[in-house]
Amino acid sequence: MTYQRPTANTAQQFVPTPVRVGADAPRLSAAASILEATEAAQALTDGFSRQLTYLRLSITDFCNFRCEYCLPNGYQGVRAKDELTLPEIKRLVNGFALLGTKKVRITGGEPSIRQDVTQIIEIVRQTAGIDTIAMTSNGYKLGKHLAGWQAAGLNQLNISIDSFDADIFHQMTGMNTLPALMTDMETLLETTDIKLKINSILMKETAFDNLIYALDFVKSRPVTYRFIEFMQTSDNHQLFFAQHANADRVKSYLLERGWRAEIRGQSDGPAVEFSHPDYLGRIGLIAPYAAHFCDNCNRLRVSCHGRVHLCLFDQGNYDIRPFLQHDNPAPLINALQNLMPIKPEHHHLHDNNSGMMTNLSIIGG
Ligand code: 5AD
Ligand code: SF4
Repeated sequence: MTYQRPTANTAQQFVPTPVRVGADAPRLSAAASILEATEAAQALTDGFSRQLTYLRLSITDFCNFRCEYCLPNGYQGVRAKDELTLPEIKRLVNGFALLGTKKVRITGGEPSIRQDVTQIIEIVRQTAGIDTIAMTSNGYKLGKHLAGWQAAGLNQLNISIDSFDADIFHQMTGMNTLPALMTDMETLLETTDIKLKINSILMKETAFDNLIYALDFVKSRPVTYRFIEFMQTSDNHQLFFAQHANADRVKSYLLERGWRAEIRGQSDGPAVEFSHPDYLGRIGLIAPYAAHFCDNCNRLRVSCHGRVHLCLFDQGNYDIRPFLQHDNPAPLINALQNLMPIKPEHHHLHDNNSGMMTNLSIIGG
């Protein structure tokens, strides 16, 4: 298949100023002991009674890929020198765990470009209260790191594969790495117990071919292949309007062929996963444009500079880095609790409003 740079006429195969965090009504003083903090902490619950048990932590916003919908011209500028340090990450994850976080996903940018990525996995793994440690990666360094990540205790890995055609993959990401990635994924499946998911962006032009290949791929492999509806950001309008497609078409295709939706677990992301008795793996759909997508939001995001993003498409973010400079979790806990009432009910993507999100490398989706 020849993949054409999309145009609006492409044929369809499927048709704020940071708040003064914690300054207003501190419930625990900065001098409160760790014991007090632990005992007093309430599980993070927002103003819509949603329990936030899932932390997505970006450890760098740098990425070596040039995905056409994210960083078509590559990462601009030089990589930041002031990414969160290991002690800061340790304190951060501990604070969240004290507030009921059960699952942490390491994201980027591309997290594996950090030299200490394996240590970061270990730190999260060793944090009391965290039962699942996951990571999202473009897979560039999968072969090199696989054994180390397994040893460090990584539970889940999401790899992005926007096409199973090596040429199209190359055109879409700027990297000719699909063949190596396919080999590395087989090694992962054969030699580790890391749960593998594959993410692909849902685009009109590639969706059908991807689905057919994915069905074949998951037939005999315990892998979930997930389509993510293309989300608009302020950098990708033209491509978005040319290629955005609704996940309902995929859903109908699956339901007509005997696939059935699975029930979501409490710490799960927003994907609806479909299973079929003849297939070992699953197909997932992440449909942020669907009604009620945000109703069960269970996630908070923190950037590699220690800023909380209450919603992927919010207008602002909130600096918690000052609270990561000492081992007392009380001020951090207080700051996070004070943010809960202002977590937005939902995004405004339907109004073509992506807030301050220029591209998803900032915070890793
Ligand atoms: N819309 C949907 N998914 C996106 N991703 C990056 N940018 C977008 C976007 N605008 C996906 C990548 C990767 C995951 C981290 O987020 O394809 O799978
Ligand atoms: Fe592609 Fe992810 Fe890198 Fe963006 S951050 S360019 S989506 S690999």
